[in-house]
Amino acid sequence: MRLGILSSGGDCPGINSTIRGVGKSAITYHGFEVAGIFNGYNGILEKNFKIMTESSFSGLLHTGGTILGTSRDKQMKRLLKKGDEKDIQMVKDNIREMGLDCLLCIGGNGTQKTAALLAKNGINVIGIPKTIDNDIWGTEVSFGFDSAVNIATEAIDRLHSTASSHHRAMVIELMGHHAGWIALHAGMAGGGDVILIPELEYDIQKVCDYLLDRVKKKKNYSIIVVAEGIATQNDMKPAEYISREISERTGLETRSTVLGYVQRGGSPSPYDRILSTQLGGYATELAAKGDFGKMVAIVDGKTSDIPLSEVAGKLKTVTRDNPLLIQGERMGVCFGL
Ligand code: F6P
Repeated sequence: MRLGILSSGGDCPGINSTIRGVGKSAITYHGFEVAGIFNGYNGILEKNFKIMTESSFSGLLHTGGTILGTSRDKQMKRLLKKGDEKDIQMVKDNIREMGLDCLLCIGGNGTQKTAALLAKNGINVIGIPKTIDNDIWGTEVSFGFDSAVNIATEAIDRLHSTASSHHRAMVIELMGHHAGWIALHAGMAGGGDVILIPELEYDIQKVCDYLLDRVKKKKNYSIIVVAEGIATQNDMKPAEYISREISERTGLETRSTVLGYVQRGGSPSPYDRILSTQLGGYATELAAKGDFGKMVAIVDGKTSDIPLSEVAGKLKTVTRDNPLLIQGERMGVCFGL
């Protein structure tokens, strides 16, 4: 059997350790061949791949990014959605010419949606969830998230220095377009006073009243953690908008920081190394059993799988009854509600 493996969508810590987990167990344990496909689904359209040997997987565990390259290009999805017979046949022919018996697709929501379309067209495919945003439906956690939360928490810890020394309101914007998992977890781990996430409609006046109340209580600084996907006025960037409003409405000295791509760069955390190694191994096992059309997942804390058709098009967001959110509220964290 020859397994093809690709990474698609934004890079994140843990992709290389997944490739290693797949590659080493596929070659050493199952006796399969492994083909690395370059630059996401474009690698299939362009038949851009190389056969990997066991040594190709050495030295990868601790590295960030993806050795296979990645892409957000939607050409494959467009072709599959259009459903033109000639295009579908071209994709199938390419996969046959590359000698692939199964395709392992590492990626986020978009990648899993495309994988589901491939499966629907009879292609042997298995999805492996990755994203720092942790918003993939069907898995309790995706690798990349823990690493991102570690980086963001360290950043919040470091902001405390300026916040407390200068008695300022420090706003930090974290990634998460549609889901506030990073902001909620790093905000709670870093002791944020205010946490604003896209899932909850916040009232900026309530945030400002809360900050002024802190001043009254002799708390001379505040940390405000905001997700990049929160609503703002006139398309303003969240950190910029929230700082402006706080400054104008309270008179507090306010500064903002946008953490950006630092959150998804560099070495995966030990937790993400283990998670990606296990998911990679489990995906290889599914391939060996011929159990295709699934996404590997963590369910009830265990490696498991879920049909790609159930994952496609859904998003896992923070809900109002999230236990960490409720605990935050009980401890006096302001969610702008
Ligand atoms: O990887 C997910 C994510 O980090 C989102 O939080 C963010 O909106 C997006 O990627 C931005 O990535 P890019 O600029 O690569 O499209």
